[in-house]
Amino acid sequence: MKYDIANINLADKGKLRIEWAAREMPVLDVIKEEFKREQPLAGVKLAACLHVTTETANLVHTLKEGGAKVVLCASNPLSTQDDVAASIVRDFEIPVFAIKGEDNQTYYRHIYNALEIMPDITMDDGADLVSTIHKEMNDLASKMIGGTEETTTGVIRLKSMENQGALKFPVLAVNDAMTKHLFDNRYGTGQSTIDGILRATNILLSGKKFVVCGYGWCGRGVAMRAKGMGAHVIVTEVDPVKALEALMDGFEVMPIAEASQVGDIFVTLTGDINVIRKEHFKIMKDSAIIANSGHFNVEIDIPGLESLSAKKRKIREFIDEYTLEDGRKIHLLAEGRLINLAAAEGHPSSVMDMSFANQALSAKYMKENQGKLEKKVYVIPKEVDERIANIKLRSMGVAIDELTDEQREYLASWELGT
Ligand code: ADE
Repeated sequence: MKYDIANINLADKGKLRIEWAAREMPVLDVIKEEFKREQPLAGVKLAACLHVTTETANLVHTLKEGGAKVVLCASNPLSTQDDVAASIVRDFEIPVFAIKGEDNQTYYRHIYNALEIMPDITMDDGADLVSTIHKEMNDLASKMIGGTEETTTGVIRLKSMENQGALKFPVLAVNDAMTKHLFDNRYGTGQSTIDGILRATNILLSGKKFVVCGYGWCGRGVAMRAKGMGAHVIVTEVDPVKALEALMDGFEVMPIAEASQVGDIFVTLTGDINVIRKEHFKIMKDSAIIANSGHFNVEIDIPGLESLSAKKRKIREFIDEYTLEDGRKIHLLAEGRLINLAAAEGHPSSVMDMSFANQALSAKYMKENQGKLEKKVYVIPKEVDERIANIKLRSMGVAIDELTDEQREYLASWELGT
């Protein structure tokens, strides 16, 4: 079996950590047992480009148990957990192409390695497989069943491909499932972003001015958790509705040009480029800390920061200290890459449980609907969302009510009034 990982001898440690994560993934476990019995992915070649974590290990194992031939590569050069990669190769016999800290050239080589199986289905986190296939592998694109996409950024890319008539096969936007973005993006990113910042810096959040750029589901989660830790949270937005929501959620809202003058810590979660730029670095307080929790490392203008700096040194494992011409220091975390996955372990297993249940069921849905879907971006059916939420609730020992016949009738009627 061909693979490329840091060190196969790390597999024992990875195996235990994968088991630990599985304890918090009851929904995926139900699906794994079902997949074992029903083999919905029999004969399917599936290439996955995901963060190589303990949770992903449990997902790729589930896909393999469902009959798929699976290969995995990293969806970010800094997020790979090398011990997990080793265990996936040794214990699940799934080829992995991922090494933590790999350079860009290796990152793309690993994507090509994964595509060598000529997949029927791709599973992306950021659309790198789909975009590589569309740019360079036309023959493969025309034969594929379809793809699934994990993240907001990837879905935005895919929708723009669809709008421009460039999409060559159907894709399921896993991100748009309720049981994905309401939990993973909000509570997952909320907790793990704070976790990453704390592991990288060990600073006290209480009393700090904490600037959250972007108030989508991820930004909402981070703002909520930073507030809970005693930080004074400032939100920056370009969308007036989201800005109003942030204001009414109790946060201060202002443009980034103003926030730059007062913030102690900045986190970008917008999905767009150059949110924090040269003109902002120039007015920041001495010792400001900047991190990104959006998918790509484009939200902070790092070349701009480099150009303003007289000196740069690594002061801690995940902190680059830039000294500007006037002596002020700016601290960039994890080279502007996803702080939650670079400096911490990504979202906790309990939320990835639902995200990856959606991924597994999306792959099954793709196969079941082979040839029936158009070249569009689809959302997984509501029934799948409800099933996942029901299993999760049950696993947490929580029961809910059912509508009575009378209530159902009332909701369906329009004649009944006051
Ligand atoms: N994205 C965010 N957190 C993750 C995790 N723990 N595993 C895989 N992908 C993730």
